[in-house]
Amino acid sequence: MREIGTVISSDSGPNSTEFWFVLNDNKGVPIRKGQFVQLNTQDGILVARVEDIIKTNRYYQRAESVSEFERSGRSLVEQFPVDRWEYLIAQAYPLCVFSNGIQKQVTFPPSPGNEVYPIEENLLYNILGLDVNSGVNLGKIEFHNIDAKLNITKLFQKHLAILAMSGAGKSYLASILIEELLNKERKQRPSIIVIDPHGEYAGFAQDEKYRTSTKIFNEKSISIATHNLSSSELADLIPEMSGVQERELFHIIKKLKEEKKVYSLEDVITEIENSSINSKTKAPMLSWIYGLNSTGLFGNKDSPSLNELAFPGNLTIFDLSDIVHLKKKQIIVAYFAKKLFEARRYKKIPPFVLFIEEAHQFAPEGEEYESALSRGVIEQIAREGRKFNACLTLITQRPVRLSTTALSQCNTHVIMRVTNPYDLDHIKKSSEGITGSILNSIPGLKVGEAYIVGEAVNYPVLVNVRERKSKASEKGMKLEDEILNFNNKRIDERDLETFM
Ligand SMILES: Nc1ncnc2c1ncn2[C@@H]1O[C@H](COP(=O)(O)OP(=O)(O)OP(=O)(O)O)[C@@H](O)[C@H]1O
Ligand SMILES: [Mg+2]
Repeated sequence: MREIGTVISSDSGPNSTEFWFVLNDNKGVPIRKGQFVQLNTQDGILVARVEDIIKTNRYYQRAESVSEFERSGRSLVEQFPVDRWEYLIAQAYPLCVFSNGIQKQVTFPPSPGNEVYPIEENLLYNILGLDVNSGVNLGKIEFHNIDAKLNITKLFQKHLAILAMSGAGKSYLASILIEELLNKERKQRPSIIVIDPHGEYAGFAQDEKYRTSTKIFNEKSISIATHNLSSSELADLIPEMSGVQERELFHIIKKLKEEKKVYSLEDVITEIENSSINSKTKAPMLSWIYGLNSTGLFGNKDSPSLNELAFPGNLTIFDLSDIVHLKKKQIIVAYFAKKLFEARRYKKIPPFVLFIEEAHQFAPEGEEYESALSRGVIEQIAREGRKFNACLTLITQRPVRLSTTALSQCNTHVIMRVTNPYDLDHIKKSSEGITGSILNSIPGLKVGEAYIVGEAVNYPVLVNVRERKSKASEKGMKLEDEILNFNNKRIDERDLETFM
């Protein structure tokens, strides 16, 4: 392979944490910021990442000479071979040394004069810890034209967070992850469950290839079996309840469970009304349970059932787009996430990946418990899920508003464009291995560009997310398309009216 540059000497280096090299060819620009390079050193093959590129030209080094020359009406370019003295100098951070197939820390600097080469594909796969054979393919590693194939255990087992501002491509990327999981042989797939507040994943149910593996549940088809709730689970949905009221509820539920196999919230209400609980305790209990009953969520069966919720190798989508009240959405997430986690704990269902869109709404940081009914279970899965292969993928456009307990347990972060300074600051504090230069480039990322940092890759990498192959949901439609679609429908309807 042809070398691209040569290590040079400077006041502070080369040292074991940084070095500089001058590029042999300053026209073709064979190198970019963020690219990986390799050098042969006495310790083995040293791998480094280009942190920055600087241009220098000694003709333009002294401000007074340049200014004096240009003022005199002459031009430096015309008088001297200025071009020939322009150099590109790259600043690089050593990452590791490879010797006899063993990857080691860099403890010794390269030497001035060492030649710098573009990195070999196999070496890059190796040092990034990619999974060539069975990894999920997110797209191409920027500058290297190799597939970003991430090992699914490393990516999901210790949870994943997708963080980016609105419109940066989070749901698109999540759809690609789902595609990749569904593309595996059924025996090798986890169960996939998606909490979809905007109906953005419905396309999977219309796609020829994925239709048979996809089930969608929406406001009409989701229900919670009242008789499956223990008294403490019911009490968890009414955080306003006092200790005394919880005790009374416990007795009511115990009595109902002894008397009937199946009962409804109306039965709970009747039982409370007929009980001897004093009226001050009773009245608020009744009003809260009326409140729960009015959500229309509670019935005599769980839908999805456990089998539908986590059918081996299937995708189950909770389309919550028709539900207005956040509390109702949180109750759904709280109930079904707990059911999933408990079932997985006792190995009744296969390992699962639970994707939660708008995760900051379901596990908000700093909110009172009353407005964060699903936070507890999400934090529990985040803390304990890895032991049971109960995996979370949290997706949010407001990382700063997401529970820090949950976010800090996500060992891989995919970061796309973010411009809000509070969110950037939060990402800086919560994403391990993110360098200053990566952080500075996050606001300038294009749609579909994503940094991956943490467990899934040994070093942070920039990925160009591939195009999706599955059908997109109509709910995520562009404004222009939606206007056209709506107006076309209206015109059709008018035609019909005229006709009739
Ligand atoms: N890798 C990509 N290649 C091509 N188009 C993309 C890519 N990623 C995203 N897009 C397009 O960008 C738009 C926004 O993407 P997406 O809906 O995934 O954003 P988002 O981050 O989920 O936004 P929101 O927070 O509002 O839900 C979509 O129209 C999508 O088709
Ligand atoms: Mg989205």
